[in-house]
Amino acid sequence: MNSTALLDQYLQVRRHSESLVASLSEEDMVVQSMSDASPAKWHLAHTTWFFETFLLRERLPGYPVFDPGFAYLFNSYYEALGPRQPRPERGLLTRPRLERVLAYRRHVDEHMQVLLRDAPDEALPLVELGLAHEQQHQELLLMDLLHLFSRSPLRPAYNERWREPSGDRQGRFVGLPGGLVDIGHDGEGFAFDNEGPRHKVYLQPFQICDRLVTNAQWLEFIEAGGYGRADLWLSEGWARVQEDGWQAPMYWQQRDGAWMEMGLGGLHPLVLAAPVTHISFYEACAFAAWFDARLPTESEWEVAARAGVLGQVEDCAWQWTASAYAPYPGFRPSRDAVGEYNGKFMVSQMVLRGGASITPAGHARPSYRNFFYPAQRWMFSGLRLARDVVAGQAVSERESFAEDVRAGLSAPAKSLPPKYFYDAVGSELFEAICNTQEYYPTRTETALLRKIATELSTVIPRGAALVEFGSGASLKTRLLLDAAPQIGLYLPIDISESALRKATAMLQGAYPDLRVLPQVGDFTHLPHLPADAARRPRVAFFPGSTLGNFTPEESRRFLRSVRRYLGRESRFILGLDMQKDVATLEAAYDDADGITAQFNKNLLARINRELGGDFDLDAFDHLARWNPERSCMEIFLVSRRSQRVHAAGCTFEFRAGERLHTENSHKYSLTQVADLAAESGWHLGRHWLSPDPQVGIFVLEA
Ligand code: SAH
Ligand code: AVI
Repeated sequence: MNSTALLDQYLQVRRHSESLVASLSEEDMVVQSMSDASPAKWHLAHTTWFFETFLLRERLPGYPVFDPGFAYLFNSYYEALGPRQPRPERGLLTRPRLERVLAYRRHVDEHMQVLLRDAPDEALPLVELGLAHEQQHQELLLMDLLHLFSRSPLRPAYNERWREPSGDRQGRFVGLPGGLVDIGHDGEGFAFDNEGPRHKVYLQPFQICDRLVTNAQWLEFIEAGGYGRADLWLSEGWARVQEDGWQAPMYWQQRDGAWMEMGLGGLHPLVLAAPVTHISFYEACAFAAWFDARLPTESEWEVAARAGVLGQVEDCAWQWTASAYAPYPGFRPSRDAVGEYNGKFMVSQMVLRGGASITPAGHARPSYRNFFYPAQRWMFSGLRLARDVVAGQAVSERESFAEDVRAGLSAPAKSLPPKYFYDAVGSELFEAICNTQEYYPTRTETALLRKIATELSTVIPRGAALVEFGSGASLKTRLLLDAAPQIGLYLPIDISESALRKATAMLQGAYPDLRVLPQVGDFTHLPHLPADAARRPRVAFFPGSTLGNFTPEESRRFLRSVRRYLGRESRFILGLDMQKDVATLEAAYDDADGITAQFNKNLLARINRELGGDFDLDAFDHLARWNPERSCMEIFLVSRRSQRVHAAGCTFEFRAGERLHTENSHKYSLTQVADLAAESGWHLGRHWLSPDPQVGIFVLEA
C-alpha cells in the first residue's frame, strides 16, 4: 500500500475507535471488570502509544513526546520497553482524565499525518501493523465492554440497535480430499508475523461443517446433561466446570424458565438459530465429543475457508480449532521490541480462526490466527465441527447427496441444492431447455458473445489459462477460443461428468493444439489450481447466469473464493441475466413443452435412481414464480396431495400444496452487479448489454 492510501486508512481506523466509544460515559470508560479486560480509556491510549513508540519516536525527527509518563501507563507487555502498570490494575487509572487521552490521540494523529506525508517505504509495514493492532483493540474494547455491562445489575445495552448475527440454516458436513496443501499467508496484503511462513501440511481426507454450531444445538447439549457428563470433557475442562460452576455459555441466564443472553444490545431472549458464542475451548471440545465429531485443525479450517465451502466465516464468531498456538516451521520473530507482538505467546493457548460480529470490516482473512487460553470465554468464540473420514476413504458423492437430501427434506421449509439437477439426464435436459422458444438466456448471451468476441479477446493475455465454471457443453467457450487463439490452456470445471466428457472430446477434435484439463467437481470447492494454470496469466469464464443460482451470500463467497483461487491480476468474464418483465421470465422457466418441468422433476427421479427413493413424479407439479423482493425466479416442486416418501434411508412427509424449493435464478441490475463485484474483492471493468431480452457480459478485474 502506498503512503497516501495508508494515510486514508490511518484516519479511518483512528476515527472508528473514537466512534466506538461515542455513546459511552466517562465512568463506563474507566472501570476494569476483570484482569483479562481493560478499560476503554486504556485501549484508546495504548493504541496511540503504539504509534508514538514504534513510529514517531523512532522515525519523526524532533517529535515532541506528549507525556513521558505515558510510557509506563500504556505499555501493554513489551519487556524491551521497560516497566509498566500491572495489567490487573489498569482500572485504577482514573488519571489521566479522558480528555487528556483524547488530546494524546490528536497529538499523535497530527504527527502521524506529517510522518505519512513523506514516509520512507520501510516505515509503511509498521504503520500497517499499528492499524491492525488498533483494530484488534477495537474488538477487545467491545469484548471488554460487554463483560463490564454483563456484570452490571442493570444489564445496560451498549447499543440498543446492536444486531447479533442472525440465524442461518443448519450446517451440513462437506467432504474435502486433504492431501498436501499450502498453509499460511500467501503474501497478498497485510498479515501478522505468526501467519507465516507459508508451508506445506499433509491432511487426511476430512469433513467440515459449513455452518457454526447454533444456540439451539447448544441447548440440546445442555438438556442432554452435557455439563454434567465427565466422559465428554477433557480433564482440565471438567475441573473448570466444577470450580466455576459452568452450566451454559458465559452470557446465558435463565429468567422465569426462559433462556436469555446478554449481548451488546442488552439482555435479550436467546436467538435459537444464531451461532453459539462465548464458550471456552473445553466446552467446544465437550460439545464435539457429544456430537461424535471433533474440532477442525487450523490447517483443515484454512483449506476449507479458501476453497469457499464454509459459511459464517468472518462475521459471526471466532472458531476454536484443535490446534495449539505454535510457530509455523521457519517462524522467526523480529529482534526488536515489536518482535514481542506474537511469538512470545506461543505456549498453552489454542488457535481460533475466522472473525466475529465485532471484528472490524476488512480485518479478518483466511490465514489469520487468533489465540486464547482454553478456559477463556469473554471473546466472541464459537465452534464449527469436523469429522474424520473413515479408513482414508473419501466421502462418496452419493453419501453427500444422501446427506443433503436428508437435511433438505426434513427442514421446515424443504429445499434441495440445484447442483443435483445435473446428472447425465439432467445435463441433456438443460441443453433441451436452451433450445426451447421461451428460454432466451442462452440464445441471447451467445449472440452477444459472438458480437463482442473480438473486443473481449483483448482482456485475455497471451498464453492465458481460461478457467470455466459450470462449462456444460462448452459451446459458448468456442466463441472465446475462436476469437482468442492466445489461450494456452482450458480448465473446465463441472459437476456433470457426462457433460464434461462430451465437451472435452468435442474440443480436442476442434482445437487440437489446445491443452484441455477437465475437472469433474463442485466449483464451490476450489482447493488447488493445477501447476500449469498457476504459472500462466489466469482468466475465469462463468457465463449463463449460473452465478444467479446462488443466494447473494453464496455469490459473494464464491466470487471471493475465485479471487483467491486465481490470485493477483486475474480477470473474470461473467455472464448474467438482467431484470426484465415478469411474463418473459415466468415463461422462460415454464416452457409450453414442459421441458423445464421435466428438468425439475428429474431431481426426484435422480433421488429414486441413486438413493432408493419412491417419489411418484406425477404427484408433484412444477412451479416457477418471480419473487420481486429477492429479484429472482424461484422454482419449486409442489406436492399435489398429502403423501409420505422414502429416500436415503428416511421417511419424509409432504402436505398437500407443500413446496420443495429446488432453484433460485437471480436477475440483476447494473448497480447490483457493481456492488456484488466490489463486495467480493473485484472491480467491475468493461461490460456489454444485449438488446431485450437483456443479458450482460461483465469483465471483473482483481
Ligand atoms: N455454462 C453453460 C452451462 C450452464 S448450465 C451455459 O452457459 O450454457 C449450469 C452448468 O453448471 C451445468 O453444466 C452444471 O452441471 C454445472 N454446475 C451446476 N452447479 C455446479 C456446481 N456446484 N459445481 C460444478 N458445476 C456445477
Ligand atoms: C444454469 N442456470 C443458470 C439455469 C437458470 O436459468 O437459472 C438453470 C435453469 N433452470 C431452469 N431453467 C434453466
